Amino acid sequence: MRFGIVGCGVIGALHAKLIASLDGRAELVAVADTAEGRAAELAAVYGCAAETSLEALYARDDLDAVVICLPSGLHADAAVPALMAGKHVVIEKPIDISLAAADRIIAAERASGRTVTVISQRRFEPSFQQVKAAVDAGELGRLTSGSAEVTLWRPQSYYDSGGWRGTWAMDGGGALMNQGVHVVDLLLALFGPVEEVYAFAGLLAHEGIEVEDTAAAVVRFAGGALGRLFASTAAFGGKSVVISAYGDRGHAVVENEVLTSFKVGDEDRIAGGTAGRLGAESHAAQLIDFIDAVGEGRAPAVTSADGRAALALVLAVYESARTGTPVKPA
Ligand SMILES: NC(=O)c1ccc[n+]([C@@H]2O[C@H](COP(=O)([O-])OP(=O)(O)OC[C@H]3O[C@@H](n4cnc5c(N)ncnc54)[C@H](O)[C@@H]3O)[C@@H](O)[C@H]2O)c1
Repeated sequence: MRFGIVGCGVIGALHAKLIASLDGRAELVAVADTAEGRAAELAAVYGCAAETSLEALYARDDLDAVVICLPSGLHADAAVPALMAGKHVVIEKPIDISLAAADRIIAAERASGRTVTVISQRRFEPSFQQVKAAVDAGELGRLTSGSAEVTLWRPQSYYDSGGWRGTWAMDGGGALMNQGVHVVDLLLALFGPVEEVYAFAGLLAHEGIEVEDTAAAVVRFAGGALGRLFASTAAFGGKSVVISAYGDRGHAVVENEVLTSFKVGDEDRIAGGTAGRLGAESHAAQLIDFIDAVGEGRAPAVTSADGRAALALVLAVYESARTGTPVKPA
C-alpha cells in the first residue's frame, strides 16, 4: 500500500519509520506539513516526496492511503477531503475532539466507500488480545467489574512543546482525552457500551493549560458491569497503565502491557505459562491490520465507530464533571 503522511511531528515521524519498516507491504511515497521545512526534513530521511499543503498531497494519484498525524482538533478537516479524494485513511487517536467532527468522518467514509481506522495500538498487544479472546469466549463468566487507569507524569515542558497541547480547541481535553483515550477504547472493547458515567476532573499540577490533568469516573455498562476510569498526567514519577476485567468465573489484569494476573476458573493462566509476553510492535500491527482490511474488503479491527464511541465516553466524563450529574454518552 502506498502511504502519505499528514503532519510530520512526533507521531508523524513514528509512522514514517513504521511504514518504512513494513518492507514489501507498505511504501512511504510523500509526507506533508504546513510548518516550514518540516516535511522536507522527514522526506529527506526516507527518500520520499515532501508537500507543504494537504491539497497538494491529496492531488497525488500515487497514494492509496494517508495517515493523519495532526493536532487532534484538525483530524476531521484533514480526513474528510482525503476520503473524498479516494484515499483510505488512518487517523491518529482521538478520532477528533467533537462528535460532530467524528460524524463528518463517518459520513465521508460511507460516501467514499473507503476505509478508516483510528489508532488504538494497545488493542494489538498480545496481552490485551488474550484477555479479549477470553472475554469474548465467555471464559470470565458474567462480567461484573473493570477498570482502566493511566497514571502518568507530564512535565510543564511537554505542554509547552506545542501550542495546541492542553487547549480545548485543539487537544479537546487533557489527561483523559489525550493520554487516557487508549484505555477508554480498551475498556469499551472488553465491556461494550457505557450506559452512564459520573465523574470529577481537576487541573492540579500544571499552569497555562486549559484542560484537566486528572480525571476520575465511575461507569455503568449496558451489560450491567460497573467500572472505573482514571487518567492523570499529574502523578510525579507515574508510569502505570492498568486494565482489569473481573467476572464471576475469572479475571485478568494487564499492567504496562504485561499480564500480571489471569485466572479462568481454577486455572492460573500465568503460572500455566499460556499468557503472552510484552508486545513491542503494536502500532505496526495496527497498520498491517489496516492494509489487510483494505485488501480483503473487510472492516479494520478498530473502526471509525469505535473511535467515535471512545470519544463519546470521554466527552460524557467531561460533561458529568462540569455539571455534577450522571451523563449517558451520546
Ligand atoms: N498513538 C499514540 O500513542 C500517539 C502518541 C502521540 C501523539 N498521538 C496523536 O497524534 C496527533 C499528533 O500529535 P504529535 O504529538 O505528533 O503533535 P506534533 O505537534 O508533534 O505534530 C503535529 C504536526 O502537525 C503539523 N500541522 C499542524 N497543522 C497542520 C496543517 N493544517 N496541515 C499540515 N500540518 C499541520 C505541525 O506543523 C506538526 O508538525 C495527535 O492527535 C495525538 O493525539 C498519538
